[in-house]
Formats: sequence, structure tokens, C-alpha cells
Amino acid sequence: MGLQKLIWAELAVEDFEQALEFNVEVLGLSVVAKDGESVHLSCDLDDPHAQLVVSPGGTGVRSFALGVDSEDELARFEARLAELDVATERRSDARPHQPVSLAFRLPTGQEVVLVPRPGRPLYRHQGFDVSSMRRGVGVADLDHITIAFSDDAQARATAHVLTEGLGFRISDLFVNADDEWLAAWTRAGEVHHDVGLIRCQAGASLHHLAWTVDNMEHHKRAADTLASAGHLLETGPGRHGVGGNLYSYLWTPGGNRYELSAEMPRILGERTDPLVRKAGEFNSFSAWGAQRPESFTRGS
Ligand SMILES: [Fe+2]
Repeated sequence: MGLQKLIWAELAVEDFEQALEFNVEVLGLSVVAKDGESVHLSCDLDDPHAQLVVSPGGTGVRSFALGVDSEDELARFEARLAELDVATERRSDARPHQPVSLAFRLPTGQEVVLVPRPGRPLYRHQGFDVSSMRRGVGVADLDHITIAFSDDAQARATAHVLTEGLGFRISDLFVNADDEWLAAWTRAGEVHHDVGLIRCQAGASLHHLAWTVDNMEHHKRAADTLASAGHLLETGPGRHGVGGNLYSYLWTPGGNRYELSAEMPRILGERTDPLVRKAGEFNSFSAWGAQRPESFTRGS
């Protein structure tokens, strides 16, 4: 079915003004719309669509959206979710540039919105160097979202909705000695993960929201930019053991964790079953030997 990548996420933020200033002045996003108390921001110089919506009050993810190829595809997903007994809601003009959408809730609690984006380019053009036009960190795109779960059965149920309802595949699973899920990485298309799941404290909805940066040089400039503005990394830069993408993580003034991610790999071949790794036997966090920080089990 015609599922696209993550197109936007709405985060609840504490200290709204500081969160907005961080996203604009330090991360380099632009305000493209205001909607009540919420502000819509974009990192794409050519795209009027927001990739981030920040709303005051609390922390965590309020909802996140995946693009679909057409309204016909939206109807097909609606029917498929109904077969799985997942309640959905059709919405009209819920957001700018979003005349129709379909919302539902995952078993882990997060709201997912499917949005037709028939004209969306199938790839990001690499030949036009916009790095000099960017502000602050200057992220290139919204990359992926990693949601929080605290209950093994709910995580499995969420993965079931993603795979059976939306056609996701699980790329990797990370489990403990009792085969309980510690983390899962799922993909809508050919990149290693679009939606991740990580076990966190009860009540958390978000582990991190990830933004694309170009390469390790961009990671270095980003860390310098962040540090000079008083925002220190939680961990990184490094290369993940699972997936192999380059990472840096930080807690933002809004009370949520962001990741900067580069070199997200493409899946080779048609294999559909996940690779299962056991804690203690494999360092899923780092391919270079860094240990996962204690703070990493905390979500927002
Ligand atoms: Fe990530």
C-alpha cells in the first residue's frame, strides 16, 4: 500500500517561548503557520508544510503523521484498520494543507494521522546544496520518531497495528533474557526505521524525535552550534549498533529529546522478518563501544 514517511509530529512542550526560540534560533526551523496556541514549523526551504507543531502544556508527542499516496489509499487504510478493530476518525481541514486526514490511536497511546500527499516528491534532491542557506543547526528534514512504551504486550500490539494495519515491517528487535521487548525499529519503506519503539517509564509517550543532518561534519557543526547556545548533548556523536546511523541526542528546552541522525541505511532485499538481538549479547546502542547512558530509559 502507498505509505510514505513521517511527515510531521506535534509535540507538547513546557516553557513554550523557550521551546519556540530553541526550534527557530538554534535548530533553524521557520514558523510557517499559527493555529490557536500551536505554532507550525518547517525546516524545508521549499515546502510550506510543517514538519513540527509545538503546543504548550506538558511534554511528549500528541500525534504524528505519515503521508499516503492518495485519498484512495487513505480509504484502503481506513478499511484495513476497521478489520483490525482499530477505531478511526475522518477529519476535514484539521491543519493547514491537510483537507482530509484519518486519525487513530496506537495501543501504546500515541495518535497517528494519515494524510494524503499525492504530490510529494519520492526523494530528497541531493544536488542542490542548501547548507549555506540554513540557520543554526540547520537540519535537513524530519527523519523518524521513536515512541515510548512501558508495557510489553502494548508494544507488541502497536507493532501489530503498524505491520498488519499499515504495512510496516520490523527491521530489528532488541529483547531481554525473557524475550520481552526493549526496543523495536519499524519501517514504512526502504529506510531502516521510520517509527521506533523504546521501553521507558510509565506515562511517557515519546523517546525522541529525530532530524536528518547531512553527515559527521554536520554532527560536529551541530554540536558546536548547540554548545555555543548553551545546549549540551546527552550523548554522541556516535554510530548506532542497530541500524548503523550516526547519532547525537539532546534534551530540548521544551522537555523532549531530539536526535540528529545521518546515514540512515537502506534495507537490502525483500527480507521481511526482523533481526532479533538480546541485551547483554549485543551493543545495540553503539557500534563503536559507547555504552547507552543511564538517562536513555527516560522518555517524555
Ligand atoms: Fe532514533
